[in-house]
Amino acid sequence: MISNKTIILGITGSIAAYKATEIASQLTQAGVEVNVIMTKEAIEFISPVTFRAITGKPVVTEMFDLASEFSIEHISLAKAADIVIIAPATANIIAKLAAGIADGMLCCTVLATKAPVLIAPAMETNMYNNPATQDNLSKLKARNFVIIAPATGRLASGKEGLGRLADINDIIGSIRQVLGRGGDLADKDIVVTAGGTQEPIDPVRYISNRSSGKMGYALAEAARDRGAKVTLITAPTSLPEPVGINVVKVNTAQEMRQAVENAAPQADVLIMAAAVADYRPTKAAKDKIKKVEAGLTLEMECTPDILGSIKGNFIKVGFAAESSNLVENAREKLKQKRLDFIVANDITASDSGFGTDTNQVTIIDHEGKIDDLPLLPKREVADKVLDRVVEFLSKS
Ligand code: PMT
Repeated sequence: MISNKTIILGITGSIAAYKATEIASQLTQAGVEVNVIMTKEAIEFISPVTFRAITGKPVVTEMFDLASEFSIEHISLAKAADIVIIAPATANIIAKLAAGIADGMLCCTVLATKAPVLIAPAMETNMYNNPATQDNLSKLKARNFVIIAPATGRLASGKEGLGRLADINDIIGSIRQVLGRGGDLADKDIVVTAGGTQEPIDPVRYISNRSSGKMGYALAEAARDRGAKVTLITAPTSLPEPVGINVVKVNTAQEMRQAVENAAPQADVLIMAAAVADYRPTKAAKDKIKKVEAGLTLEMECTPDILGSIKGNFIKVGFAAESSNLVENAREKLKQKRLDFIVANDITASDSGFGTDTNQVTIIDHEGKIDDLPLLPKREVADKVLDRVVEFLSKS
């Protein structure tokens, strides 16, 4: 996990240097020790004082500073780092790193470290697309540097194009993913479902539920951060697509079933946090249904029970959202669907269940063990669920 890790955040001379404050802030808040190294061009854009205030650590700008603040060995930071991330990375630093030039503190640190190095380029479109820059990035990739692709959008020139610093969530996600390599789910193939399926009534209307996808996405990200290879099968949500995860987008229960069946043969674990519609209109109208004063009666049929019917040699985890008789109802689903364990949501508890950032769950396994958890952020619930997955995997 990310807390107690040591990260070097290298900042170079780009207009996007100010965005590195958010990276430093999010990492520091997550319990990471962030050591900032700024090139002399970077400090033309933003003051080191800002990063000192955010990280609570001295900021390195020159060899001399490092000697006075840390240690006379200029590689001390490089040795202590679990990861080095350069964000934003200019064409200039990328060229120097590709050529292995020991020019300035940041280049020296990258040359001296054995930690994984991540590069988030930010520059003008033509500079980024230039064969020289692409060549340099290819060289770095071949040396196992992780390149976080830039985004398309408004650039410093005022034009639209490729070259904006990647979204901060993607940068943090990439850092988490790299730090999670070799975690307790390393090399495990985990399939997670999320969101509420949408069952069409006509071309513009559907039946769905209030699932936001937060619980499923938290599980997928937590599994990624523990080293797993994750497939996230998601019904429509408004959540950003997580990095480092194979995302499969579906709409209906039938599409989700197909996607789960495609992914399951390789899976070590299937976790179904999706709120799959239990019923769908027997037939979706081809044209938009007209309003009539007499009202409308819809004929509905059952959707396929994905979890109940899927077969294979993997750990099977279900969720159950219950408004009464939590444990009995969840136990019944555990048995019916032949699950290894079920995560029962008490949706009557405040701030728990659909759409919330927190969840209050009880984990019930097939041997009858019951684990009542307090109200926790969904990411923490996800890690508790994955702790149980690790236990089950060790027994299988
Ligand atoms: O998305 P969020 O806003 O974060 O909310 C999270 C959640 C409340 C949706 C989630 O934590 C949760 O509880 N999901 C399961 C919802 C539910 O009520 O499921 P169920 O009791 O209808 O089904 C039990 C299990 O069978 C579930 O794992 C479900 O994915 C699965 N199922 C259900 C119906 C169906 N046709 N096929 C299935 O596989």
